[in-house]
Amino acid sequence: MNCPDKELESESKPQFNIEFKIAEKDFNVAGEAASKVKKTLQQLGLETEVVRNVAIIVYEAVMNVIIHANYGQLKVIIVPDKVVILTEDTGIGIPDLELAMKEGYSTATNEIREMGFGAGMGLPNIKQCSSKLNIKSQVGVGTVLEAIVYLSSKD
Ligand SMILES: Nc1ncnc2c1ncn2[C@@H]1O[C@H](COP(=O)(O)OP(=O)(O)OP(=O)(O)O)[C@@H](O)[C@H]1O
Ligand SMILES: [Mg+2]
Repeated sequence: MNCPDKELESESKPQFNIEFKIAEKDFNVAGEAASKVKKTLQQLGLETEVVRNVAIIVYEAVMNVIIHANYGQLKVIIVPDKVVILTEDTGIGIPDLELAMKEGYSTATNEIREMGFGAGMGLPNIKQCSSKLNIKSQVGVGTVLEAIVYLSSKD
């Protein structure tokens, strides 16, 4: 049976949304978005591990849009029991998702590797930091990544 008071309490908890536009070749936006999200989650009093995981996911997912796609957007939705991280991009898409998820697999160019990226560790890292990960990609169109990090219940 539902307890009405409890339900009301969880419904009245605020929901926070953070949004970032990811412009073409904007290499600074990943760091900026990760810091902003980290600060907001810390201010909301979320657990250190959740904050760390969300910040890593945001950084790696946004970097992937900048490096591998053309442009896109980031949304971080904080609801009472979870944080949802969503990136949507317009770009070349990922032809083989299973391969893309493998540690060390990267299609990054030499120029990108010289900048210190392209180890092929971003997606495996995102997977490790997520409670749930869902990637949908269409070649020649773009990619949508949705990661969920659950908050541990303290009830
Ligand atoms: N948004 C995206 N659009 C198109 N391809 C992508 C996207 N994200 C990932 N990929 C593909 O998946 C591969 C693996 O991604 P991953 O983040 O694991 O490694 P990386 O970005 O190449 O290197 P690193 O993240 O270690 O700097 C990429 O090299 C690229 O081929
Ligand atoms: Mg990457």
